[in-house]
Amino acid sequence: MTSLSALQLPRRARALLAELENRAVVCDLYSQSGAAVYHDLAGVGTEEIRELVRTVRGLPGPVLDLAAGSGRLTLPMLALGRDVTALDLSENLLLLLKERLDQERGRRFAERCSVVHADMRDFSLGRRFGVVLLGTSSISLLDERGREALYRAVRSHLLPKGRFLLSTLDLHAAAGQEEAELVVTGLSGRAYRLYERWERADGRRVVVVFPVQMEEEPLTVCTTAIRVLPADLLVSELTENGFAVRSRTPLGNQTARHRDVLLEAEVAA
Ligand SMILES: C[S@@+](CC[C@H](N)C(=O)[O-])C[C@H]1O[C@@H](n2cnc3c(N)ncnc32)[C@H](O)[C@@H]1O
Repeated sequence: MTSLSALQLPRRARALLAELENRAVVCDLYSQSGAAVYHDLAGVGTEEIRELVRTVRGLPGPVLDLAAGSGRLTLPMLALGRDVTALDLSENLLLLLKERLDQERGRRFAERCSVVHADMRDFSLGRRFGVVLLGTSSISLLDERGREALYRAVRSHLLPKGRFLLSTLDLHAAAGQEEAELVVTGLSGRAYRLYERWERADGRRVVVVFPVQMEEEPLTVCTTAIRVLPADLLVSELTENGFAVRSRTPLGNQTARHRDVLLEAEVAA
Protein backbone atom coordinates (compact mmCIF):
# COMPACT_ATOMS: atom_id res chain seq x y z
CA MET A 1 0.00 0.00 0.00
CA THR A 2 1.14 3.62 -0.23
CA SER A 3 2.36 6.39 1.99
CA LEU A 4 -0.49 8.59 3.15
CA SER A 5 1.62 11.69 3.51
CA ALA A 6 0.66 13.09 0.10
CA LEU A 7 -3.03 12.22 0.46
CA GLN A 8 -5.79 13.90 2.41
CA LEU A 9 -7.58 12.05 5.20
CA PRO A 10 -11.40 11.99 5.08
CA ARG A 11 -12.78 15.19 6.68
CA ARG A 12 -14.70 13.40 9.47
CA ALA A 13 -11.67 11.27 10.35
CA ARG A 14 -9.48 14.38 10.57
CA ALA A 15 -12.02 16.05 12.88
CA LEU A 16 -12.23 12.98 15.12
CA LEU A 17 -8.44 12.72 15.37
CA ALA A 18 -8.29 16.39 16.34
CA GLU A 19 -10.93 15.80 19.06
CA LEU A 20 -8.98 12.82 20.40
CA GLU A 21 -5.78 14.90 20.55
CA ASN A 22 -2.99 12.56 21.64
CA ARG A 23 -5.26 9.76 22.92
CA ALA A 24 -5.18 8.09 19.50
CA VAL A 25 -2.25 6.00 18.28
CA VAL A 26 -2.30 6.18 14.48
CA CYS A 27 -0.71 3.30 12.57
CA ASP A 28 -0.69 1.77 9.12
CA LEU A 29 -3.29 -1.01 8.73
CA TYR A 30 -0.55 -3.32 7.38
CA SER A 31 1.98 -2.60 10.15
CA GLN A 32 2.53 -4.90 13.11
CA SER A 33 0.22 -2.76 15.28
CA GLY A 34 -2.50 -2.70 12.60
CA ALA A 35 -2.31 -6.43 11.83
CA ALA A 36 -4.92 -7.46 14.42
CA VAL A 37 -7.42 -4.96 13.01
CA TYR A 38 -6.61 -6.06 9.44
CA HIS A 39 -7.16 -9.73 10.29
CA ASP A 40 -10.39 -8.92 12.12
CA LEU A 41 -11.78 -7.01 9.13
CA ALA A 42 -10.39 -9.25 6.36
CA GLY A 43 -11.95 -12.36 7.90
CA VAL A 44 -15.50 -11.01 7.61
CA GLY A 45 -16.35 -11.47 3.92
CA THR A 46 -16.81 -15.11 2.95
CA GLU A 47 -18.57 -14.50 -0.38
CA GLU A 48 -15.31 -14.41 -2.34
CA ILE A 49 -14.23 -17.73 -0.84
CA ARG A 50 -17.59 -19.32 -1.65
CA GLU A 51 -17.45 -18.10 -5.28
CA LEU A 52 -13.82 -19.22 -5.70
CA VAL A 53 -14.59 -22.66 -4.28
CA ARG A 54 -17.60 -22.96 -6.62
CA THR A 55 -15.52 -21.91 -9.67
CA VAL A 56 -12.38 -23.93 -8.89
CA ARG A 57 -14.45 -27.07 -8.26
CA GLY A 58 -15.28 -27.08 -12.00
CA LEU A 59 -11.68 -26.55 -13.15
CA PRO A 60 -9.04 -29.31 -13.28
CA GLY A 61 -5.40 -29.20 -12.21
CA PRO A 62 -3.25 -27.87 -9.41
CA VAL A 63 -3.87 -24.40 -7.97
CA LEU A 64 -1.39 -21.53 -7.55
CA ASP A 65 -2.52 -19.03 -4.88
CA LEU A 66 -0.66 -15.74 -5.44
CA ALA A 67 -0.23 -13.29 -2.54
CA ALA A 68 -1.49 -16.13 -0.37
CA GLY A 69 -0.67 -14.46 2.94
CA SER A 70 -1.62 -16.64 5.90
CA GLY A 71 -3.80 -18.83 3.67
CA ARG A 72 -7.34 -17.44 3.79
CA LEU A 73 -7.86 -18.82 0.25
CA THR A 74 -5.18 -21.54 0.32
CA LEU A 75 -6.92 -23.61 3.00
CA PRO A 76 -10.33 -23.77 1.23
CA MET A 77 -8.50 -24.85 -1.96
CA LEU A 78 -6.73 -27.63 -0.04
CA ALA A 79 -10.08 -28.61 1.49
CA LEU A 80 -11.30 -29.18 -2.10
CA GLY A 81 -8.65 -31.92 -2.31
CA ARG A 82 -6.38 -29.96 -4.68
CA ASP A 83 -2.60 -29.64 -4.74
CA VAL A 84 -1.86 -26.00 -3.96
CA THR A 85 1.22 -23.79 -4.26
CA ALA A 86 0.96 -20.73 -1.98
CA LEU A 87 3.26 -17.84 -2.95
CA ASP A 88 3.81 -14.64 -0.97
CA LEU A 89 6.45 -11.99 -0.38
CA SER A 90 6.01 -11.91 3.40
CA GLU A 91 8.02 -14.52 5.28
CA ASN A 92 6.05 -13.75 8.46
CA LEU A 93 2.70 -14.50 6.82
CA LEU A 94 4.11 -17.66 5.22
CA LEU A 95 5.25 -18.83 8.65
CA LEU A 96 1.69 -18.32 9.88
CA LEU A 97 0.42 -20.30 6.90
CA LYS A 98 2.82 -23.16 7.68
CA GLU A 99 1.53 -23.25 11.27
CA ARG A 100 -2.03 -23.42 10.00
CA LEU A 101 -1.10 -26.25 7.61
CA ASP A 102 0.50 -28.19 10.47
CA GLN A 103 -2.68 -27.82 12.53
CA GLU A 104 -4.54 -29.66 9.74
CA ARG A 105 -2.46 -32.84 10.03
CA GLY A 106 -5.59 -35.02 9.89
CA ARG A 107 -6.41 -33.63 6.45
CA ARG A 108 -2.77 -33.85 5.23
CA PHE A 109 -2.81 -30.24 4.07
CA ALA A 110 0.94 -29.76 4.48
CA GLU A 111 1.64 -32.74 2.18
CA ARG A 112 -0.37 -31.15 -0.63
CA CYS A 113 0.81 -27.58 -0.21
CA SER A 114 4.10 -26.05 -1.44
CA VAL A 115 4.88 -22.76 0.24
CA VAL A 116 6.98 -20.38 -1.86
CA HIS A 117 8.58 -17.13 -0.79
CA ALA A 118 8.62 -15.03 -3.99
CA ASP A 119 7.41 -11.89 -5.69
CA MET A 120 4.27 -12.33 -7.79
CA ARG A 121 5.79 -9.97 -10.39
CA ASP A 122 8.76 -12.24 -11.00
CA PHE A 123 8.57 -15.95 -10.27
CA SER A 124 9.51 -19.12 -12.08
CA LEU A 125 8.19 -22.31 -10.52
CA GLY A 126 9.11 -24.73 -13.33
CA ARG A 127 5.56 -26.11 -13.53
CA ARG A 128 2.12 -25.09 -14.76
CA PHE A 129 -1.28 -24.86 -13.05
CA GLY A 130 -4.92 -25.38 -13.93
CA VAL A 131 -5.86 -22.34 -11.84
CA VAL A 132 -3.93 -19.25 -10.76
CA LEU A 133 -5.70 -17.24 -8.04
CA LEU A 134 -5.15 -13.65 -7.00
CA GLY A 135 -7.90 -12.87 -4.51
CA THR A 136 -8.75 -10.22 -1.93
CA SER A 137 -8.28 -7.44 -4.53
CA SER A 138 -4.52 -7.96 -4.04
CA ILE A 139 -3.90 -6.85 -7.64
CA SER A 140 -4.34 -3.32 -6.26
CA LEU A 141 -0.94 -3.74 -4.57
CA LEU A 142 0.75 -3.48 -7.96
CA ASP A 143 1.41 -0.45 -10.16
CA GLU A 144 1.03 -0.65 -13.95
CA ARG A 145 4.51 -2.09 -14.59
CA GLY A 146 4.06 -4.53 -11.75
CA ARG A 147 0.73 -5.69 -13.21
CA GLU A 148 2.31 -6.23 -16.65
CA ALA A 149 5.04 -8.33 -15.06
CA LEU A 150 2.41 -10.29 -13.10
CA TYR A 151 0.38 -11.01 -16.28
CA ARG A 152 3.56 -12.28 -17.98
CA ALA A 153 4.41 -14.57 -15.07
CA VAL A 154 0.82 -15.87 -14.83
CA ARG A 155 0.67 -16.61 -18.59
CA SER A 156 3.80 -18.71 -18.39
CA HIS A 157 2.42 -20.75 -15.45
CA LEU A 158 -1.03 -21.67 -16.83
CA LEU A 159 -1.76 -25.07 -18.37
CA PRO A 160 -3.63 -25.02 -21.71
CA LYS A 161 -7.22 -23.91 -20.90
CA GLY A 162 -6.05 -22.96 -17.38
CA ARG A 163 -7.81 -20.04 -15.68
CA PHE A 164 -6.57 -16.89 -13.99
CA LEU A 165 -9.08 -15.83 -11.29
CA LEU A 166 -8.65 -12.36 -9.80
CA SER A 167 -10.85 -10.10 -7.74
CA THR A 168 -11.09 -6.34 -7.59
CA LEU A 169 -13.24 -3.61 -6.09
CA ASP A 170 -15.32 -1.36 -8.33
CA LEU A 171 -15.97 1.96 -6.63
CA HIS A 172 -18.95 4.06 -7.71
CA ALA A 173 -19.63 7.58 -6.48
CA ALA A 174 -21.06 10.67 -8.09
CA ALA A 175 -18.99 13.87 -8.11
CA GLY A 176 -19.13 15.39 -4.62
CA GLN A 177 -19.66 11.95 -3.00
CA GLU A 178 -15.97 11.16 -2.66
CA GLU A 179 -16.28 10.61 1.10
CA ALA A 180 -18.26 7.88 2.83
CA GLU A 181 -18.61 6.36 6.29
CA LEU A 182 -19.61 2.82 7.24
CA VAL A 183 -19.68 0.57 10.29
CA VAL A 184 -18.31 -2.96 9.96
CA THR A 185 -18.29 -5.73 12.56
CA GLY A 186 -15.06 -7.74 12.58
CA LEU A 187 -14.71 -11.50 12.94
CA SER A 188 -14.19 -11.02 16.70
CA GLY A 189 -17.52 -9.17 17.07
CA ARG A 190 -15.72 -5.85 17.55
CA ALA A 191 -17.30 -2.97 15.61
CA TYR A 192 -15.27 -0.48 13.54
CA ARG A 193 -16.19 2.82 11.93
CA LEU A 194 -14.51 3.27 8.53
CA TYR A 195 -14.07 6.64 6.87
CA GLU A 196 -13.21 6.55 3.19
CA ARG A 197 -12.09 9.24 0.79
CA TRP A 198 -11.73 8.47 -2.90
CA GLU A 199 -8.91 10.52 -4.42
CA ARG A 200 -10.12 10.15 -7.99
CA ALA A 201 -7.27 12.07 -9.61
CA ASP A 202 -4.73 9.91 -7.81
CA GLY A 203 -6.65 6.65 -8.38
CA ARG A 204 -6.57 5.72 -4.71
CA ARG A 205 -8.92 5.50 -1.77
CA VAL A 206 -7.81 6.50 1.70
CA VAL A 207 -9.41 4.53 4.54
CA VAL A 208 -9.24 5.37 8.26
CA VAL A 209 -10.47 2.78 10.76
CA PHE A 210 -11.63 3.73 14.29
CA PRO A 211 -13.05 1.34 16.87
CA VAL A 212 -16.70 2.19 17.56
CA GLN A 213 -15.95 1.96 21.32
CA MET A 214 -13.78 5.04 21.64
CA GLU A 215 -12.95 4.67 25.32
CA GLU A 216 -10.23 2.03 24.67
CA GLU A 217 -6.74 2.92 25.90
CA PRO A 218 -4.63 3.17 23.84
CA LEU A 219 -7.06 3.91 21.04
CA THR A 220 -5.61 2.39 17.86
CA VAL A 221 -6.63 4.14 14.65
CA CYS A 222 -5.49 2.52 11.39
CA THR A 223 -4.98 4.18 8.05
CA THR A 224 -4.28 2.90 4.57
CA ALA A 225 -4.30 4.11 0.95
CA ILE A 226 -5.38 1.55 -1.61
CA ARG A 227 -5.14 1.76 -5.40
CA VAL A 228 -8.58 1.66 -7.07
CA LEU A 229 -8.52 -0.67 -10.11
CA PRO A 230 -11.96 -0.87 -11.73
CA ALA A 231 -12.92 -4.17 -13.39
CA ASP A 232 -13.19 -2.40 -16.80
CA LEU A 233 -9.56 -1.28 -16.55
CA LEU A 234 -8.37 -4.78 -15.62
CA VAL A 235 -10.38 -6.34 -18.46
CA SER A 236 -8.62 -4.05 -20.98
CA GLU A 237 -5.21 -4.72 -19.42
CA LEU A 238 -5.77 -8.47 -19.46
CA THR A 239 -6.86 -8.33 -23.11
CA GLU A 240 -3.79 -6.26 -24.06
CA ASN A 241 -1.61 -8.75 -22.20
CA GLY A 242 -2.74 -11.89 -24.05
CA PHE A 243 -5.76 -13.02 -21.99
CA ALA A 244 -9.39 -13.52 -22.94
CA VAL A 245 -11.79 -12.62 -20.10
CA ARG A 246 -14.43 -15.38 -19.84
CA SER A 247 -16.61 -14.05 -17.04
CA ARG A 248 -17.17 -11.25 -14.58
CA THR A 249 -19.06 -12.21 -11.41
CA PRO A 250 -20.30 -9.81 -8.71
CA LEU A 251 -19.23 -10.89 -5.22
CA GLY A 252 -20.91 -10.42 -1.88
CA ASN A 253 -23.09 -7.62 -0.67
CA GLN A 254 -23.08 -5.12 -3.50
CA THR A 255 -23.72 -1.59 -2.29
CA ALA A 256 -24.28 1.46 -4.48
CA ARG A 257 -20.66 2.45 -3.71
CA HIS A 258 -18.66 -0.79 -3.28
CA ARG A 259 -18.91 -3.70 -5.73
CA ASP A 260 -16.46 -6.58 -5.53
CA VAL A 261 -15.98 -8.42 -8.81
CA LEU A 262 -14.33 -11.74 -9.71
CA LEU A 263 -12.76 -11.92 -13.18
CA GLU A 264 -12.05 -15.24 -14.88
CA ALA A 265 -9.52 -15.14 -17.71
CA GLU A 266 -7.62 -17.63 -19.87
CA VAL A 267 -4.69 -17.27 -22.22
CA ALA A 268 -6.09 -16.02 -25.57
CA ALA A 269 -5.89 -18.51 -28.46
C1 LIG B 1 -4.56 -8.30 1.11
S1 LIG B 1 -3.37 -9.53 1.59
C2 LIG B 1 -4.20 -10.97 0.99
C3 LIG B 1 -3.70 -12.26 1.59
C4 LIG B 1 -4.57 -13.48 1.34
N1 LIG B 1 -4.74 -13.79 -0.09
C5 LIG B 1 -5.94 -13.31 1.99
O1 LIG B 1 -6.93 -13.46 1.29
O2 LIG B 1 -5.97 -13.07 3.20
C6 LIG B 1 -2.12 -9.18 0.41
C7 LIG B 1 -0.92 -10.12 0.42
O3 LIG B 1 -0.07 -9.77 -0.67
C8 LIG B 1 1.27 -10.02 -0.29
N2 LIG B 1 2.12 -9.29 -1.24
C9 LIG B 1 2.30 -7.96 -1.36
N3 LIG B 1 3.08 -7.70 -2.42
C10 LIG B 1 3.42 -8.88 -2.98
C11 LIG B 1 4.22 -9.27 -4.09
N4 LIG B 1 4.82 -8.37 -4.86
N5 LIG B 1 4.35 -10.59 -4.36
C12 LIG B 1 3.75 -11.52 -3.58
N6 LIG B 1 2.99 -11.22 -2.51
C13 LIG B 1 2.82 -9.92 -2.21
C14 LIG B 1 1.32 -9.54 1.14
O4 LIG B 1 2.42 -10.08 1.81
C15 LIG B 1 -0.05 -10.05 1.65
O5 LIG B 1 0.06 -11.34 2.16
